[in-house]
Amino acid sequence: MQDNDLVRFSIAVPAGLLRQFDEQIERTRGDRNRSEAVRDLIRSSIVREKLRTPEEEVIGSLTMIYDHHAGDLTRRLDDIQHDYTDEIVSTLHVHLDHHNCLEILALRGTGERVYELADRLLALKGVSHGELTCAATEGSLGL
Ligand code: NI
Repeated sequence: MQDNDLVRFSIAVPAGLLRQFDEQIERTRGDRNRSEAVRDLIRSSIVREKLRTPEEEVIGSLTMIYDHHAGDLTRRLDDIQHDYTDEIVSTLHVHLDHHNCLEILALRGTGERVYELADRLLALKGVSHGELTCAATEGSLGL
């Protein structure tokens, strides 16, 4: 059996739970069917587990909002990012208003490096919002 071969299996689920799951699929996933939704859940569960392994490769995005007037924040953000040129695939910077900037970094690297970068950036004073979201595409992480 190959990794991409589909395998059927049956699981027992309380009727009410399954009904809520089907309603959620209908509401949030458009034309996805139940099998695809369950596959997504399995994948994200495995990804979450693998992300805890520092040497696993992960992809993700880091979103930050910060006040570019705050001290030397802009320079410090730059300094740190220059230590992670292998991990930062792309950046998007939006000047939101007179004070605030939105910055989104597309990241790819080992879990250790990606999380370390996010921790260092989000620890800086003046960063008012920050969130790291990691994911995997089909094919990466052997999924
Ligand atoms: Ni800006």
